[in-house]
Amino acid sequence: MSIQSILETMEYGVAPEDDSQARKWLAKHEGGFGHFIDGAMTKPGDLFEVRDPASDTVLARVTQGSASDVDAAVSAARRAQSGWAKLSGHQRAKHLYALARHIQQHSRLLAVLETLDSGKPIRESRDIDIPLVARHFYHHAGWAEILEDELPGHTAQGVCGQIIPWNFPLLMLAWKVAPALAAGNTVVLKPAEYTPLTALAFAEIAQECGIPKGVINIVTGDGETGAAIVGHEGIDKLAFTGSTDVGRILRERTAGSGKALTLELGGKSPFIVFEDADLDAAVEGVVDAIWFNQGQVCCAGSRILVAEAVAERFETLLRARMKTLRTGDPMDKSTDIGAIVHPSQLARIRDLVEKGASEGATLTQGSAPQGCYFPPTLVTDVEPASVLATEEIFGPVVTLTTFRTPSDAVALANNTRYGLAASIWSENVNLCLDIAGQVKAGIVWINSTNIFDAGAGFGGYRESGFGREGGREGMRAYLRNPAAATGNGKGTTPAELETGPADTIKGGEIDRTAKLYVGGKQARPDSGYSYQVKGGKAVVGLAGLGNRKDIRNAAEAAHKAKGWGKATGHNRAQVLYYIGENLSARGAEFAARLESFGASRKAAEAEVETAVERCFWYAAQADKFDGAVHATKSEFVTLAMNEPIGVMGLVAPTAQPLLGAISLVLPAIAMGNRVVLVPSQTHPLAATDLYQVLDTSDVPDGVVNIVTGPRDELAKTLAAHDGVDAMWYFGNAEGCRMVEAQSAGNLKQTWVEADDARDWGARAGQGRLFLDRATQVKNIWVPYGA
Ligand code: NAI
Repeated sequence: MSIQSILETMEYGVAPEDDSQARKWLAKHEGGFGHFIDGAMTKPGDLFEVRDPASDTVLARVTQGSASDVDAAVSAARRAQSGWAKLSGHQRAKHLYALARHIQQHSRLLAVLETLDSGKPIRESRDIDIPLVARHFYHHAGWAEILEDELPGHTAQGVCGQIIPWNFPLLMLAWKVAPALAAGNTVVLKPAEYTPLTALAFAEIAQECGIPKGVINIVTGDGETGAAIVGHEGIDKLAFTGSTDVGRILRERTAGSGKALTLELGGKSPFIVFEDADLDAAVEGVVDAIWFNQGQVCCAGSRILVAEAVAERFETLLRARMKTLRTGDPMDKSTDIGAIVHPSQLARIRDLVEKGASEGATLTQGSAPQGCYFPPTLVTDVEPASVLATEEIFGPVVTLTTFRTPSDAVALANNTRYGLAASIWSENVNLCLDIAGQVKAGIVWINSTNIFDAGAGFGGYRESGFGREGGREGMRAYLRNPAAATGNGKGTTPAELETGPADTIKGGEIDRTAKLYVGGKQARPDSGYSYQVKGGKAVVGLAGLGNRKDIRNAAEAAHKAKGWGKATGHNRAQVLYYIGENLSARGAEFAARLESFGASRKAAEAEVETAVERCFWYAAQADKFDGAVHATKSEFVTLAMNEPIGVMGLVAPTAQPLLGAISLVLPAIAMGNRVVLVPSQTHPLAATDLYQVLDTSDVPDGVVNIVTGPRDELAKTLAAHDGVDAMWYFGNAEGCRMVEAQSAGNLKQTWVEADDARDWGARAGQGRLFLDRATQVKNIWVPYGA
C-alpha cells in the first residue's frame, strides 16, 4: 500500500506486537508445566493443552492438579504462614514492592503472554491489565507497611484458597494475592484452566524476587482442582471470582466449615443514558463498557437504558461507531475487539444470542473474522424477561431499552438479580448522584465506565456476591477482626418446646400470652399456638409459636418499611436515643423479667444497664459511621458509601435474652436496615417486652419485626427467603451450617457464630464490626475537571 493511498483511505495498517520473547519463554517450557509448590516448580504431571484462541494453536501444556497436589500446596502454605505473618509489616512490604518492580520489568512478556493465552487485544493487556497488576502490588506493599497502625489488632486469616477466572488472568491473581500477602496470609491459587500461563510466569517472578517458599503456591487445573481447594480442611479463607453458579456451589460446600468466604460473581450491569448526557461521550462509554475485553467482563455495562427523548439519536451514533470497531487479531495494536477466550465460550454466546433472536429481539452486528470471534452486537426490541436482558452473556453483546423518567430508569436498572456495577450518564451531577444512590450496585461510575484502581473496593450487591477487593474494605476481608470469637464455642441448643393452644398449656404464674410483632402491630401467630417459657423454677409465661408464614409476613412488613434506609443518620440516632430512654424508664420492669428467668438481681440490672448504654452507643454511631473518599485516579473522587443492606434476618443468642436481642437489632437499624428478629427461644419474653418500647419510641412500623418460636426452624425460613438480604445467626454449629447452606439461594450475606463464643455483656458484644456487617460499601466514581 502506498503512502498516498493510505492517506486517501485512512485505513489502518497491521501493527503486530513482537511475540518473540513470549515464544522463547513458551519454548523453554515445551516439556510442560508443573505446579508451583513450596517455592519450586513440581514435575509436570497429567498434562492438558492450553491454546491460543485467536490462532487455534497449542501454546503450552499444563498439569491437571490432583487432590494430592492441592494437599501438598496447602501443607506448604500452612508451614510458611506463621513465619510470613511474623515478619514485620515493613519486611512484607519489601517483598510486595519487589514483586511490583519485577512485574514492571517483565511487563512486556506478561502482556504478550496474556494476549496469546486469552485472546484479549494487546492494547488492553499492555495498557490496562499489566499496569493495574503492578499498581495492586505497590498499593498493597503500602498496606503491609501501615497495617498495624491502620487496623490495629487485626491478624491474618491463615491459608487462603483463591480461585480465579479467565477474563483478567493476571489481574485477578493480583487482586487476590497482593492483599492476602500484605495481611500475612499465605496462598494457594488456582488460575482458570483456559488461561494459566501468566500465573505460571508470575510463579517464576516470585522465585526471582526471593519470596519465602510456601508463601505463594499455584496449582493449575480445572473445576475439579478448584473443588479440591474448596473442600480442603487446611484452608481458612476462600476468595472466588467467577460465575454465580459456581459461587453458589462454593457457598453450599463451605457451609458450616468456618472458612471465611468472599465471592465476586456475575453481573448484568445497567448503562443509563439521560436526556442531557453528552451523547458522543456516552457512545464512547458503551465501547468501553461492553466491547472492552470482548464483553467478557463481570461488570460490563451490558444493558443500555436510554432516555426516550434521545434514544433515536443515541442509537444512530452508536451504530455509526460500531462500524468503525476493528475485530480481529489480538496481537495487532490497532485491534479493538479480540478473540473470545475459548470455543466453548463462543458457543455459549452464540446460543444465547440465537435464543434472544428467536424471542423476537433485533440484532445489529459489526463484522468479525472467521474463527473464535464474535462481532460487536447491539440488541433492540428486547423484552425485560428475554434471556438477553436477564442472563450474563459474557460476550460483546449489549441490549438497548428506553425509559421515560428517572424513576423508570432506576426500576429497569434494578430489575435484575445481580448488583455489581452501574454507569450513569448525565451532565447534571445532582441527578447522577441521586440515581447512584438508588441503583443496587457495588460500583457506580458517573460519566465513565470500567475504571478500576487498587485504592477502591470492587464487589457486588445481591447475586453478584459479597466482600470487596481493593481499598481498605478489601484489606479487611483478609484479616480477622480482633473482637471476633474464637469459634470454639459449640453454641447452645434450646430444649424442646412445650406447645399447644394457650389454654391447654397454661401453668405457673402466667399473666398473658405474648404475641408476635409484625409491621408495628402485635400479631397472633399463624399457628394459633403458644409455647411455655420457663423461668428458674416454674413456667413464667407463654410466647407465640411462630412459623414460616409469620416469618414471611414479617419479611414483607420489613420490605414495606423502605423509607427507614433513607432517613438521615441524625433521625435514626434520635429514634435510638428514644429507645434507650424508654428502656431506661422501664428498667426495673425489664430487670424483673430477667430475674424471673433465673438471673440474679445484680446480673439482671447489669444486663438492662448495658442494653441502655448500647442504645446510646449505636445512636452515637448512626450519624458517624462514615464512608471514605478513596484516593484513586487523579481525575476522579471515589466515594465509598456505607449503605444499608436491606432486610436483615437476626437470630439472637440464647443467654442474656435482652442484651442479645438488642445487640443485633441496634447496629442493624442504626445503619438503616429493617429487621426480622428471632429472639432467644428459651427466654423470648425479654424481647417481646420491647414491643411497647418500640411503639413509644417513634420506630416506624415494619422497621423491627419480632417472631418468637423454634429458633432453628424460623432461622431456616429466614435464611432461605429471597426477600431477606442478610442473615446473622448466633446459635449452634448445626444452625450455622444450615444458615450458610440455605443462604446460597439468593447469595445473601451471612454472619454465623456459636452464641456462647462471645461475651455479649462485654465490648465484644458491640462495636464497629457490627456496623461493618450491617452495611455494604458502594463505591461511586465521580469525575471532575472541566
Ligand atoms: P466458572 O465460574 O466455572 O470458572 C471460574 C473458576 O472457577 C475457574 O478457575 C474454574 O476452574 C473454577 N471452578 C469451576 N467449577 C468449580 C468448582 N465446582 N469448584 C471450585 N472451582 C471451580 O466460569 P466459566 O465456566 O469459566 O464460565 C462460565 C460463565 O461464567 C461465563 O460464560 C460467564 O458468564 C461467567 N463468568 C463470570 C466471571 C466473572 O468474573 N463474573 C468470570 C468467568 C466466568
